[in-house]
Amino acid sequence: MKQIALRAAEIARQLEDKTGARPKIGVILGSGWGSAAEALEGKRVISYDSLEGMPQCNVKGHAGNFVFGKACGAEIVAVQGRFHLYEGHTPATAVLPVRILSELGVQTLVLTNAAGGINRAFAPGDLMLLSDHINMTGLNPLVGVRASEAYPIFVDMGQVYDAALRKRLEEHCGGLGIPCREGVYLQVLGPSYETPAEIRAFRAMGADAVGMSTVIEAICAKYLKMRLLGITCITNMATGVSNEVLSHKDVLRRMEEVSKKFPALFSLIYNDILSFA
Ligand code: HPA
Repeated sequence: MKQIALRAAEIARQLEDKTGARPKIGVILGSGWGSAAEALEGKRVISYDSLEGMPQCNVKGHAGNFVFGKACGAEIVAVQGRFHLYEGHTPATAVLPVRILSELGVQTLVLTNAAGGINRAFAPGDLMLLSDHINMTGLNPLVGVRASEAYPIFVDMGQVYDAALRKRLEEHCGGLGIPCREGVYLQVLGPSYETPAEIRAFRAMGADAVGMSTVIEAICAKYLKMRLLGITCITNMATGVSNEVLSHKDVLRRMEEVSKKFPALFSLIYNDILSFA
């Protein structure tokens, strides 16, 4: 396979040729978050299968599109469709969308996901802004990446998610009556859900929510010097926290309920990002 950085650059050039857009804000939409792109004005949808070198997307709830549009006067690109490690994708492929957005000029990246709540104070339907993360995949997208002076691979991870942006958004969500918490997200490999013993261990480690994405992308985004905002929708309580039997269908159903808040939420997000730009 072609070196991933080169492949990302080639796909970004195709997107530029098709749209002429150079957005500074990007959003990666996780399971069930796809409809968040609907709020964009003057949308142009570019499907993955129209792009040479772009892998296809196979998971329900992930459409496989780049959506370009405007919000709050700024150009935005939203990615509908992740490449999960549990599908057998390599970490390099999992971070391909992040690399493409960076090539397009994106400087602030919003990573969204669905997760199980480990923190007992959480409830399904809550939103959680990521204050930090724990990588339990045993993988890292920077393994084998050639370091350069401008982009060292020994990336400082002291503050992955932008604290100022998070604070501001939390205040604004409160004002709009959107419950928004803060916590530590832990990524597992999946695709099986966790056992009760694993959830107890993850709680002892300091995790508030568990899911199967985001951390690998956040590592790459940090390496690429992006400002990051991470948002989780708690779709269920994690195994053993409640007696619920977990299914991907229920996760998507819960996301559908929460998605009614997306237009208000994303207009807050874009406003806040722009005020920091
Ligand atoms: N575990 C892992 N991933 C998830 C969960 C969960 O409980 N809910 C949504 N994605």
